[in-house]
Formats: sequence, structure tokens, C-alpha cells
Amino acid sequence: MKITSAEFIISAVGPAQYPEDGLPEIALAGRSNVGKSSLINKMIQRRNLARTSSQPGKTQHLNYYRINEQLYFVDVPGYGYAKVSKTQRQAWGKMIEAYLQERKPLQLVIQVIDLRHPPTKDDVAMHEWLTHYDIPLCVVATKADKIPRSRWPKHLKEVKTTLGLTAATPLIMFSAETGAGRDELWDVILKHAAA
Ligand code: GTP
Ligand code: MG
Repeated sequence: MKITSAEFIISAVGPAQYPEDGLPEIALAGRSNVGKSSLINKMIQRRNLARTSSQPGKTQHLNYYRINEQLYFVDVPGYGYAKVSKTQRQAWGKMIEAYLQERKPLQLVIQVIDLRHPPTKDDVAMHEWLTHYDIPLCVVATKADKIPRSRWPKHLKEVKTTLGLTAATPLIMFSAETGAGRDELWDVILKHAAA
């Protein structure tokens, strides 16, 4: 995928601020600090357009990035971050749930998990929730550069069984360091964005 333009559009706190041009939206969901923003940057080959941080919980709004005037990446706040107040967490949860359930231009959710560890309880809950609402889904196991290739199959199997992945859901190994999985993920994204 050749990137001709990539721009940050808005950090939206609610539906009134979502773009209205109807371009397809591809949302990133995953635990805090799992690597969602880094994944976006790798996909668009920009070092730091999507804000990354070694401090979890930094992304707190829906951050919209418009790519090639063709689609949006929507960076969703990470779930499962303990250090914010319960009220704050509930408010974000409501906004995100409403977005994922009701947003018309949303074409695909990329659920990002960490290949190094088995999916957490939060990962499993998120996966079940997305599946339950029939939201088009792709699972990306990132930080693959931290695991020797010879051990990928073992980790993959663990991801599949823990999430109860069906054959219909694409599962892609990814690394924001090496770019592994980038082409494969673009194929999946473009299939959904064109639909
Ligand atoms: P929140 O916005 O807080 O939810 O986090 P996030 O999911 O956007 O994670 P972010 O992209 O900010 O990455 C968190 C940390 O993981 C950073 O220190 C990244 O450099 C590191 N990281 C992300 N992806 C990879 C990867 O593929 N490989 C390696 N080795 N490190 C990664
Ligand atoms: Mg982020």
C-alpha cells in the first residue's frame, strides 16, 4: 500500500465531533500499551503521527487519522488500564461501546493483542463482546519481533484457543519494529474498506 497522505484529523470526545464525510473507518481496539498507535504508524509509515507512549492509558479520546483521502484509522482508548478512576473508565466505556455498536462508517475493528502472552481476561471479554454484536473483526498479534519465529506457532495456537477464534476471523502476526504482517493487514483492511 502506497501512502500518499496521512493526517491527524481530530481527537474526538463524542459523536458530535466524528467526521461526516462518510469515509470508511477502521478502528483499533486493544489493551493499554499493547501497541495500537505504533501499529497505525507502521501501517502508514510515519514515525510518530499516532502518539505512542511507554506510559499506558495515554490515548483517551477517539483519534482520527485520514489516510490517502480514502479511509480513517480510529485509535480507540486502551481497555483494562487500572490507574484511571472507575467513573472515568465507565464514561470511556460508554462512548466506545456506542461507537463500536452504532457507527455507520465503521467497517472493521482490528483487535490488537500481545503475541508474547496469552490473551488476558480483558482481551477475551472484548473479543466476545465484538463477536456477540457481529462487528467485523480481525485479530492482530503484535510485538512479534520479541518472539523467535520458531516459537510463533506455539503462541498462535495459544491465542486461537484462548480467544476461541473461528476460522472466519483473520489472525495476523505483526511487528511495529520490523513491519512483519503489514502487507497482510493492508489486504484485510482494503477488503473491508471497499465493501
Ligand atoms: P495506549 O495508547 O496507552 O492504549 O497504548 P498503545 O496501545 O497505543 O501502545 P503504543 O503504540 O503507545 O506502544 C506502547 C509501547 O510498546 C511503546 O513503548 C512502543 O514502542 C512499544 N511497541 C509497540 N509495538 C511494538 C512492536 O511491535 N514491537 C516492539 N518491540 N515494541 C512495540
Ligand atoms: Mg495509543
